[in-house]
Amino acid sequence: MATDHEGITQAPGALPIVGHLFPLLRDPLGFLKTLPSYGDLVQIRLGPQTAVVVCRPELVQEVLLHDRIFDKGGPIIERVGNALGDGIASCPHSAHRRQRRELQPAFSRTCLREYAAIMTEQIDTLTAGWHDGPTIDVGSQMYALASGTIARTLFTAEAARPAVEAVTENLPDIFRGIYQQALLPPSLRRLPLPSNLRYERARNRAWGEVSKAISWYRQDGEGHSDVLSMLLATHDDAGEALGDAEVHAQIMTLLVAGIDTTAVALTWAVHLLCQHPDVQERLHVEAAKVLGTRAATWEDLPQLELAGRVITETLRLYPPGWIFTRMTTTEARLANAVIPPDTTLVYSPYLMHHDARFNRRPDSFDPDRWLPEHEHVRGAFIPFGGGARKCIGDAYAMNLATLALSTIVARWRLSHGDVRRPRIEPRMTLSPNKVRVRVACVERAPV
Ligand code: HEM
Repeated sequence: MATDHEGITQAPGALPIVGHLFPLLRDPLGFLKTLPSYGDLVQIRLGPQTAVVVCRPELVQEVLLHDRIFDKGGPIIERVGNALGDGIASCPHSAHRRQRRELQPAFSRTCLREYAAIMTEQIDTLTAGWHDGPTIDVGSQMYALASGTIARTLFTAEAARPAVEAVTENLPDIFRGIYQQALLPPSLRRLPLPSNLRYERARNRAWGEVSKAISWYRQDGEGHSDVLSMLLATHDDAGEALGDAEVHAQIMTLLVAGIDTTAVALTWAVHLLCQHPDVQERLHVEAAKVLGTRAATWEDLPQLELAGRVITETLRLYPPGWIFTRMTTTEARLANAVIPPDTTLVYSPYLMHHDARFNRRPDSFDPDRWLPEHEHVRGAFIPFGGGARKCIGDAYAMNLATLALSTIVARWRLSHGDVRRPRIEPRMTLSPNKVRVRVACVERAPV
């Protein structure tokens, strides 16, 4: 094993030209899990590009907390910027504080309470439409729930319906495109390959409809108690209203960052409840006591304590955002290594959550590990990242997932039956390939 810079170890097994491309494509999670055995900072290679994977929680925290030195950057961030505009998730540190200040009020407690009413309504409609018998495709149901809820949080006016539909329809292709393009060398990104064309088409459709919605809101001039109205009423530090390009970038960013992540988390949670009928039963008892069979609301949240722990444990086992990058803006020190400027660093919530040095029995599903009496290693649980770039929608996602899961188990019993178990597919998010589940109405189902 070679050491390039002091304190940084090169991962073994790199092939000439392609580096670690094959293990990264074949089994990225398995490959990641081997890295801590080589050191705390391990260099991997993807073609001509190298990246340093940070393998200890306290070092990951250092990277996240010093966001001026370890700034956003790397191929995925570059593609996200290209697809969405320079919004809050991909902008550099120099623009971030201002953008965050402008967006933060949309995630205040008062706003979250209002959003919860939209969540309850959407969850109620979705789960009331299920029937005993045939299996349901949980992934697409949860996608419909997350996209419907988040899109309505952003724009409530009827005139924005085409934007909601265009985004919901095209987001999967946009997501796939961002990921594929990040892996392609720049020269291949512009070729008229079917995947590139599909991505361009999807991006242009969603982009165009969101632009129309913004124009309509501007002309209308009324407030609609939604995030778009709030952004249009926001002024920057110089007292100027935000321009269309920035409003557009923030709306697209919130849609892309929020929908798939939350849908995937809920899909894994349903799968885990099927795998662990004992936990499902306990959750049903909690939900039935608090809700009966009505849909859960904001006021119920403090009592849906086990549901919160089930979601937390799901995010630990299957963090939807499983890998992220940063770029050093200057020479940086990390542990005892000196890291040159323009180095790509990688942090992985999945790696932190599954490292047995920092998590007791890391691969087993145990919501009770989140009971208050248990202690955890700081930085070993980071499904929402950390520092100034921590997820702005963390409470939003937890509320939606808790309300949805509680309402589902209050009304329905879930089982895999003879349906095949899902395969884990690490792409932009850590998704299951397919989760099909049999649902039976609790009032008719045997306990
Ligand atoms: C379970 C669901 C979710 C997970 C696991 C998740 C995870 C994350 C993570 C790990 C980051 C940090 C990325 C980094 O360090 O580079 C992040 C950032 C972000 N997330 Fe989420 N997210 C979720 C839901 C949401 C929702 C519902 C929204 C909005 C509606 C949202 C909006 C954002 C935004 C705007 C950022 C960028 C924040 C910044 O740079 O200031 N996320 N998310």
